Amino acid sequence: MKKILVTGGTGYIGSHTVVELLKNPDYSIDIIDNLSNSKEHVVDLIAEIAGKKPNFIKGDLLDFELLKSLFEKNDYDIIIHFAGLKAVGESVEKPLEYYENNIQSTINLLRLVRTDKPTDFIFSSSATVYGEQDSPKCVETMQTGTKLTNPYGRTKYFIEEILKDYANTNPNFCATILRYFNPVGAHPSGLLGEDPNGIPNNLMPVVMRTYTGEIPALNIFGDDYDTPDGTARRDYIHVVDLARGHIASLEHSKPGISIYNLGTGLPTSVKEIIAAFEEASGKKLNTNIAPRRSGDLPECWADPSKANAELGWHTELTIADAIRDTLNYLNKQ
Ligand code: WQD
Repeated sequence: MKKILVTGGTGYIGSHTVVELLKNPDYSIDIIDNLSNSKEHVVDLIAEIAGKKPNFIKGDLLDFELLKSLFEKNDYDIIIHFAGLKAVGESVEKPLEYYENNIQSTINLLRLVRTDKPTDFIFSSSATVYGEQDSPKCVETMQTGTKLTNPYGRTKYFIEEILKDYANTNPNFCATILRYFNPVGAHPSGLLGEDPNGIPNNLMPVVMRTYTGEIPALNIFGDDYDTPDGTARRDYIHVVDLARGHIASLEHSKPGISIYNLGTGLPTSVKEIIAAFEEASGKKLNTNIAPRRSGDLPECWADPSKANAELGWHTELTIADAIRDTLNYLNKQ
């Protein structure tokens, strides 16, 4: 039996990953989450889907004493670290909150990782660490950390560097950095989906709330980019494919630092996302053309070939699947 600690496991990506982890009878799972951007009820939804209930600890990773007592009671073989603040715009307004929360929580975890036996550590990173590159197609060997446009992205970059430095001190540390592109979609059961607290920043939750009428109209941030339809292009990956990427990386963990892009390798524009959603829902969305959002890149998508080759992982779900599953989730709320 392998003991796994999943931080942020009631969140959007964390919960979908726990569902996939529970398919393995050899995994015993503890979720720790402070519920700052999720609900405890997600634990029951995970159990309903998976037929098994993970343990849940309500707690904050900044509470070192709580974390220390958890590690004294549990000998974790694997840590999957999702917990973190992740709103790009909010990070510009509250940089100290982002640096303290995202970085200190990771350091607290690293202080408790055992050095006398192998421990797998999977870190939820982001394509944001690439910043502006000469090519919109991101490869793991590219220089990261330059021209980052917000504190959120910088926390992800700094944590990647901290993991690299820590790995040099602990030969039993088997770290995998997974750089997510743009997660979208929901679990096909309709029980789990993206449900951020407050006003969403990301495109798909805004599309969802425009569809339900919570948001009167979707602002398209710029239609004058040098792209086929003038709107910015991103790599939208179904959250279930993303979750499965975590399972694949666990099965290939090794000492030191391994870095993988988790994306489809296909760029999709804002207008294409809107058109696909209108097609699937049969409802025209109200949209406005608004000025470009500061910090946005015209284009960014993954070269996933390293994860494909080394992890044997490929995305299998499409944008249409993600929109179908999102509508199914919305209709069940
Ligand atoms: C996508 C595109 C917007 C909203 C960020 C983080 C990344 C990850 C995902 C956490 C852009 C456009 C958006 C809207 C719009 N974060 N857009 N109107 O900025 O690519 O990535 O979120 O996991 O780390 O950097 O994602 O969904 O905010 O934007 O036109 O109301 O949609 O301009 O071109 P982004 P996004």
